[in-house]
Amino acid sequence: MNWPNHVEKILSKLDIALPIIQAPMAGGFTTPELIAAVSNAGGLGSIGAALLTPESLCEIIQATRALTSKSFSVNLFAPLKYERSEEKIQKINEIMAVYRQELNISPSITADIKQPISFEEQLEAVLSEKIKIISFTFGTPGSEILRKLKNHQIIVIGTATTVKEAILLEKLGYDIIVAQGSEAGGHRGTFLDSFENSMIGTMALVPQMVDAVNIPVIAAGGIMDSRGLEAAIILGACAVQMGTAFLTCPEAGTHPKHKAAILEGTEEHTKITSVFSGRPARGIRNRFMDEMEKYQNSLPDYPLQQSLTSSIRKKAAELNREEFLALWAGQGIRLSQSKPAAQLLLELMSRLTIFNKTNNK
Ligand SMILES: Cc1cc2nc3c(=O)[nH]c(=O)nc-3n(C[C@H](O)[C@H](O)[C@H](O)COP(=O)(O)O)c2cc1C
Repeated sequence: MNWPNHVEKILSKLDIALPIIQAPMAGGFTTPELIAAVSNAGGLGSIGAALLTPESLCEIIQATRALTSKSFSVNLFAPLKYERSEEKIQKINEIMAVYRQELNISPSITADIKQPISFEEQLEAVLSEKIKIISFTFGTPGSEILRKLKNHQIIVIGTATTVKEAILLEKLGYDIIVAQGSEAGGHRGTFLDSFENSMIGTMALVPQMVDAVNIPVIAAGGIMDSRGLEAAIILGACAVQMGTAFLTCPEAGTHPKHKAAILEGTEEHTKITSVFSGRPARGIRNRFMDEMEKYQNSLPDYPLQQSLTSSIRKKAAELNREEFLALWAGQGIRLSQSKPAAQLLLELMSRLTIFNKTNNK
């Protein structure tokens, strides 16, 4: 391929052949099979590790290494401060009791509020496995942690939803930034301004961010095929990070009902909601999202709401009740396909019109 210089640079920095990153997606989506398929095909596979215990994180890393000798990255959520309001917890539990009843889940809800998994222990697990590329979303861990990662010669990738966030990450010493546009599926990475003010589309965000920082920018949000990839590169991005496009691959750990909803979904079906976790995220509208919408402003903070809905989502998955699942997906869903990851990457490359080899002649 005749990639421009800014793309070539990141390919050599990340030791990959193609400027395509399979987005880290916490929640069992990024199986070793998916990650390895992407990395083996020349892209960068990523483990969405934020919800994993250190033990399962190590297991997934090892299982992935058994399938590929190529590099892949690990992603964690930067630790967040949150307020625990017993009043909000009680109120929302009363509201969600109807769903528990419908799904036959015990009403003893306080047991549902789990302690978040220790970020420090997750990080230790990543270091012990000698991972070379780490990415973060939801902000940034403290400077001491960043220093430690640098001392281990780890490439650190941050997530920014505004130019201001990108500038801060660059100042803190990040190596690369993912520009997450408002089209993106899953949780918003916003950490400085309000979520509302930080809903910038990928097309607008990428060139403004590229102009404002000197480190490479990866475009994310709504990129599903070779057109999106080439557009992002022309806007100045050095690679793309695609989430939704990989959720429907046979290798992904996505629930079959979730896959079906993406394959059948169209661009007007997704919405930003906090009702599943207490933090804004984009997913396909369903009954839980619609009915809970009126309580958006009285939800307990992330990750409390996430814990409170976990048994509902788990039972719904067992029962194939997609109306209670968090059907995370981006606005590009009409373009989704159910092809193996390697084939998806192959197609992305073969359909390039601007950066393909023949244009070079
Ligand atoms: C199911 C799902 C889970 C996600 N989980 C994470 C995550 O754990 N960490 C992260 O940095 N980004 C996460 N994201 C966001 C992606 O990194 C990326 O910004 C997004 O998928 C890009 O938009 P697209 O889905 O339109 O490709 C997730 C996205 C989806 C769809």
